[in-house]
Amino acid sequence: MTQGASNSASKSATNGAANVGASSRRDMIVVEDLHKHFGGFHAVDGASLAIKEGSITGLIGPNGAGKTTLFNVIAGVLKPTSGRVFMAGEEITGLPPHDLFHRGLLRTFQIAHEFSSMTVRENLMMVPGGQSGETLLNAWFAPARIRAEERALAQKADEVLDFLTIDHLADEKAGNLSGGQKKLLELGRTMMVDARVVFLDEVGAGVNRTLLNTIGDAIIRLNKERGYTFCVIEHDMDFIARLCDPVICMAEGKVLAQGTIDEIKNNEQVIEAYLGTGLKNKVVADA
Ligand SMILES: Nc1ncnc2c1ncn2[C@@H]1O[C@H](COP(=O)(O)OP(=O)(O)OP(=O)(O)O)[C@@H](O)[C@H]1O
Ligand SMILES: [Mg+2]
Repeated sequence: MTQGASNSASKSATNGAANVGASSRRDMIVVEDLHKHFGGFHAVDGASLAIKEGSITGLIGPNGAGKTTLFNVIAGVLKPTSGRVFMAGEEITGLPPHDLFHRGLLRTFQIAHEFSSMTVRENLMMVPGGQSGETLLNAWFAPARIRAEERALAQKADEVLDFLTIDHLADEKAGNLSGGQKKLLELGRTMMVDARVVFLDEVGAGVNRTLLNTIGDAIIRLNKERGYTFCVIEHDMDFIARLCDPVICMAEGKVLAQGTIDEIKNNEQVIEAYLGTGLKNKVVADA
């Protein structure tokens, strides 16, 4: 299958340390003229964009712009009304989340999804599919293999917690974590498998500045050291400015503009789109 709009979103500069030279890279994700309607309401209304391999791409826009809906369509949670999505040149439109998961496309949720009565380590160990212990027959006839797999998973989970600097929370019940720690756990879930592209939905919402920096550090390290491509929805412009290049701005279901954070902050249409919201004032003040 061919990829049509592959060069539709390639303005890039080098202010994000992790993304130097991103404009010459190939597209990891391409979205072509995507629509998602809820009854007569067009939540995503003809969005086209591309996310470069190896980039940390920011996705901003006022409340209700369609950002989460776009993520949900890309990640297979919602079927598009029309339009197409490609990953590394292959069409993935409408594929179910588990299929995308096996291709290395992962997403986190605007509201963290943890198993609250399980420990942090156990939450991470739940992530990879296809473990031998999942079938009753294996539980009876191959207990040694299951124990070996569980040990390997526990070790992997501990490495992830160490990477995220929350190893001291391994035995804590996930329900007892703070909002920010739950967001870190969400990020940790993407590290239990070989992710290629990770979609983060408001990973900084309700998170204190120190934890937000930890999350930002982890994203940059995953990008630089493990080659993860990220698409990051976030309302915190400082966080976006630190991490993301390029930045894409959506409003009313469409892509309004793309460029460096400075270009976006000075874009008339972007400023207009934020009019009447608190964020508009922040964008204007920062510009
Ligand atoms: N399942 C649904 N049924 C009907 N309308 C929906 C549904 N999901 C989202 N919407 C509407 O679609 C629009 C876009 O919502 P979406 O959650 O994608 O926006 P967003 O850009 O993520 O906003 P925020 O920054 O507040 O998270 C909103 O007006 C929302 O009310
Ligand atoms: Mg949202």
